[in-house]
Amino acid sequence: MQTDLRGRDMITTQEWTKEEIDTVLDVAMELKRKRALGEPHALLRDKVLTMLFFFSSTRTRASFEAGMAQLGGHAMFMDSKTTQVSHGDTAKEIGQILGRYTSGIAIRQVDWGAGNQYMRWVAEASRSPVLNMQCDLYHPHQILADMMTIMEKKGDPRGKTITVSWAYASSYSKPQSVPNSLVLLMTRYGMNVRLVRPPEFKLKPEIVEQAKENARKYHSSFEIMEDFEAGVKDTDIWYAKSWGPLLVTQDPKEDRRITDRYKDWIADERRMAMANEDAIYMHPLPADRNIEVTDDVLDGPHSVVFDQAENRLHAQKAVMALTMK
Ligand code: CP
Repeated sequence: MQTDLRGRDMITTQEWTKEEIDTVLDVAMELKRKRALGEPHALLRDKVLTMLFFFSSTRTRASFEAGMAQLGGHAMFMDSKTTQVSHGDTAKEIGQILGRYTSGIAIRQVDWGAGNQYMRWVAEASRSPVLNMQCDLYHPHQILADMMTIMEKKGDPRGKTITVSWAYASSYSKPQSVPNSLVLLMTRYGMNVRLVRPPEFKLKPEIVEQAKENARKYHSSFEIMEDFEAGVKDTDIWYAKSWGPLLVTQDPKEDRRITDRYKDWIADERRMAMANEDAIYMHPLPADRNIEVTDDVLDGPHSVVFDQAENRLHAQKAVMALTMK
């Protein structure tokens, strides 16, 4: 267990050691237990977290806000459109000023090629830690909650197979932050990671290289597949969700044209039955119901999506309690 995490940014789990991530997961389980027992745990009394959003959210906003209240502090919601961010406040102003007002700055900025850079600039200027509420490249708090869920449902993750598969969606072009973060973290926990996607939905080469390196270092495996059903066969964990063909195009019309080629990539009961009998189905939500995943799967016996969403609260409380000062 690591006890010196005060002031640390959480921008990607890849920048935290495995032992530090273990510490977060340990504390998250402990805080979940305390909440279940009704034990007070006001570890951040009088502390304030800035939450700056450039993009919509349900779970992330609600779980950070509820989490800060349960820790005895306050979360301050800010929207880029209704602040002077829209009139010239730069990342430097946000880091310098909000880093002095509050004990942590949480940001969601998912614009391709911009979100992660924005967070790095804020972190450079801020005396308080920066917590990534999702950028174009990473969604670390989602993935910490996912790992916590896997440990709860499947026990020791070592040797388990996880299929991270693309799925069709019609609502909007979703960021690559979830599949990136999944392949980076799960390969560090000894899992056999299958990334299954059509050829146009590649992840960035540097992410793929890091995942391969993690697999070598942690004695796990990382395989890229293009056959949807072969990818699901005999898996222990099926994590099926959509993301945009962002390495190929950032033009919305071209994106739609490419994405519409794969309308049959839906997580349905027939495919769920190809996984192991006790396999779990995961999705970070929101999902395009009956387009990306059928109701039968999302609401079915394999699905753990609501426990997974709950764990956002506990994982984030752990990160905040360990890093904010
Ligand atoms: N999973 C997730 O980040 O949900 P929101 O977009 O609702 O925050």
